[in-house]
Amino acid sequence: MASMAKFGSFALFFILQTVFLFSPTTLASDPFAFFNLELSYISVSPLGVPQQVIAVNSSFPGPVINVTTNYNVVVNVWNKLDENLLLTWNGIQMRRSSWQDGVLGTNCPIPPDSNWTYQFQVKDQIGSFFYHPSLGLQRASGGFGSFIITNRPVIPIPFAAPDGDIVLLIGDWYVRDHKALREALDSGSELGVPDGVLINGRGPYRYNNTLVPDGIVHETVNVDPGKTYRIRVHNVGVSTCLNFRIQGHNLVLAESEGVYTQQQGYTSMDIHVGQSYTFLVTMNQNASNDYYIVASARFASESVRDKVTGVAILHYSNSTGSATGPLPDPPSEIYDTSFGLNQAMSVRQNVTASGARPNPQGSFHYGQINVTDTYMLKIQPLVQIDGRLRSTFNGISYANPDTPIRLADSFNLSGIYKTDFPSQPPDNGSYRLDKSIIEANYKGFIEIIMVNDDAIPHSFHLDGYSFFVVGMGTGNWTESSRGSYNRWDALSRSTTQVFPGGWTSVFVSLDNVGVWNLRSENLDRWYLGEETYMKIVNPEDHINKTELPRPENALYCGALANLRRKKKNNSSAVTSFHGSSKVQLKLMLMLFVAPFLFW
Ligand SMILES: *[C@@H]1O[C@H](CO)[C@@H](O)[C@H](O)[C@H]1NC(C)=O
Ligand SMILES: *[C@@H]1O[C@H](CO)[C@@H](O)[C@H](O)[C@H]1NC(C)=O
Ligand SMILES: *[C@@H]1O[C@H](CO)[C@@H](O)[C@H](O)[C@H]1NC(C)=O
Ligand SMILES: *[C@@H]1O[C@H](CO)[C@@H](O)[C@H](O)[C@H]1NC(C)=O
Ligand SMILES: *[C@@H]1O[C@H](CO)[C@@H](O)[C@H](O)[C@H]1NC(C)=O
Ligand SMILES: *[C@@H]1O[C@H](CO)[C@@H](O)[C@H](O)[C@H]1NC(C)=O
Ligand SMILES: *[C@@H]1O[C@H](CO)[C@@H](O)[C@H](O)[C@H]1NC(C)=O
Ligand SMILES: *[C@@H]1O[C@H](CO)[C@@H](O)[C@H](O)[C@H]1NC(C)=O
Ligand SMILES: *[C@@H]1O[C@H](CO)[C@@H](O)[C@H](O)[C@H]1NC(C)=O
Ligand SMILES: *[C@@H]1O[C@H](CO)[C@@H](O)[C@H](O)[C@H]1NC(C)=O
Ligand SMILES: *[C@@H]1O[C@H](CO)[C@@H](O)[C@H](O)[C@H]1NC(C)=O
Ligand SMILES: *[C@@H]1O[C@H](CO)[C@@H](O)[C@H](O)[C@H]1NC(C)=O
Repeated sequence: MASMAKFGSFALFFILQTVFLFSPTTLASDPFAFFNLELSYISVSPLGVPQQVIAVNSSFPGPVINVTTNYNVVVNVWNKLDENLLLTWNGIQMRRSSWQDGVLGTNCPIPPDSNWTYQFQVKDQIGSFFYHPSLGLQRASGGFGSFIITNRPVIPIPFAAPDGDIVLLIGDWYVRDHKALREALDSGSELGVPDGVLINGRGPYRYNNTLVPDGIVHETVNVDPGKTYRIRVHNVGVSTCLNFRIQGHNLVLAESEGVYTQQQGYTSMDIHVGQSYTFLVTMNQNASNDYYIVASARFASESVRDKVTGVAILHYSNSTGSATGPLPDPPSEIYDTSFGLNQAMSVRQNVTASGARPNPQGSFHYGQINVTDTYMLKIQPLVQIDGRLRSTFNGISYANPDTPIRLADSFNLSGIYKTDFPSQPPDNGSYRLDKSIIEANYKGFIEIIMVNDDAIPHSFHLDGYSFFVVGMGTGNWTESSRGSYNRWDALSRSTTQVFPGGWTSVFVSLDNVGVWNLRSENLDRWYLGEETYMKIVNPEDHINKTELPRPENALYCGALANLRRKKKNNSSAVTSFHGSSKVQLKLMLMLFVAPFLFW
């Protein structure tokens, strides 16, 4: 079980500790899980060409973080790169704590040769997610790993316990590192066709001697005949939608980004950048040989696909024959998005299954709630602004302020950012570079309609939330498109595709206070400005109930850079934990004393 042993051993790295403290922020016995992640460069040759990649604890891809619903997760991140770093947690909701989200709108970057400790609770979540660096295209060089939240033992999962849990990180890949890719974009060139696809950091199996050079190390997944495995697949790549399939095997889709789906079989699944899926796969084929696991570029010509294809091997124990024959076929249509669109809308949540809580996932009747605000976000092809290549949402290419938004708020700094992000695309077709964000209403129930006028699919992602993907279509969105919305069992997730020349509508219940990044997961587009933030504040929060206070270990930069030294002086490495336990102690006293006062 090479790959499973690899992940299993990482589980040993974390120490569990139960904290018996009463406080409203951490439930009585929600355990703590501690992780240390060190990001550094290593040299590897996944496509046969030596290159520098970002390893996590010397491993590429990084170790799995595997915790259970409601755990308090403490991750000490060490930056051994030669540039600033932030890790973000794709799909993890960071409830009440955008302070820990690891994007420039909420955090100052972690400088080289230093560390910073994240602390957050994975409240009421289950499922498959991943972590990755959020700055300057770094994800194109690695730094990613799977982040799993398992069910609490008291909550049943809607399928038999699998015989194994396998993680596959798939993604398009360039032999140029993130710095070279950044230079290309900065000088006005697009990134061009990727050099290949990696599966768990490894290049393709040599399924064809012409297409795959000799000497590339491929990934092998070891399985036993007759058993059923949970295979979690994350597209951690730069910008390519990948079609995932396993030769001769049925993929039963069971979970996606934290929601148990209606279990349905697929021969292949399109996985867009930033998306995560769980498949249950039964090893019911002839066990005397191996099989191909394939992730190949979608919506691409055959010649591009020949290059942008990842192949791993599914190895049955005791099999003596290698995988043979041509790779299993991808969907036959290449540019027509209707197959992909129908497939996306065929994925439904299982409304009767329990998710993180005992009540059924479908108990939140999102389809019966009145929409309070509608936003339409238009994605357009790349433009030139002030002579630079840029991407936009509603004509605005986001420019990060030097001071994180929420940090500026907590010091009452004004003028750092603007809240004038238009809720509709401008009709005059103008573009500008700006630090405009959306100020949305706490407890609102909003509709976001993404319209894609670009020629490629974009992955749209919102931090801090999962949204209901109620509709997708081709052509222009119109009022009547609402008639096609799925108001009953739409998938709730954090990353959805928006097809070229089409639209995608989502519903979001704004119950998580903070400042949340809303972006394209296509890394080049994100880097070039296709992002903004949604600020959701509870005007009545005076007691830190709906938003946790600024962490005591907060880093300072921009207009608050002067606080940096002061912090170091009264320093102490453990401020954050002393700080939070002080608060907990106070609350504990309040809880014990208050009843006597009221009796
Ligand atoms: C990562 O490496 C650090 C430093 O070598 C070590 O302390 C830690 O246990 C490792 N953690 C994980 C999750 O691998
Ligand atoms: C850096 O790591 C040290 C050693 O683990 C720890 O005590 C300290 O709190 C960390 N610093 C920050 C800012 O998280
Ligand atoms: C995660 O942990 C659970 C048990 O807590 C285990 O069953 C599962 O195999 C682990 N998954 C991975 C990928 O490490
Ligand atoms: C390998 O790929 C090339 C190019 O697509 C193709 O012409 C050739 O038939 C393939 N070889 C085999 C053995 O499939
Ligand atoms: C499995 O494949 C082997 C080799 O191709 C063949 O000899 C055998 O008959 C097959 N077994 C079954 C059950 O099909
Ligand atoms: C594989 O072969 C070994 C010895 O030949 C045998 O003990 C074992 O049961 C076999 N495993 C499977 C899954 O067939
Ligand atoms: C839905 O979840 C229930 C558990 O509540 C399970 O028994 C059922 O098989 C699931 N249905 C599908 C289609 O996945
Ligand atoms: C939604 O709005 C309609 C009228 O616009 C109203 O009749 C209905 O009560 C509202 N539903 C809810 C749940 O507020
Ligand atoms: C910010 O303003 C609020 C309300 O005016 C005040 O209560 C708070 O103390 C101020 N915070 C800082 C850091 O000045
Ligand atoms: C275009 O419209 C937007 C508002 O929709 C406005 O802010 C902007 O100034 C207009 N630009 C021009 C050049 O008219
Ligand atoms: C979509 O709307 C634009 C104008 O906004 C129009 O030019 C175009 O023809 C419309 N496309 C379709 C398919 O209706
Ligand atoms: C709320 O947070 C502030 C820091 O932002 C802290 O000073 C205050 O004590 C907290 N209040 C409670 C009740 O925890």
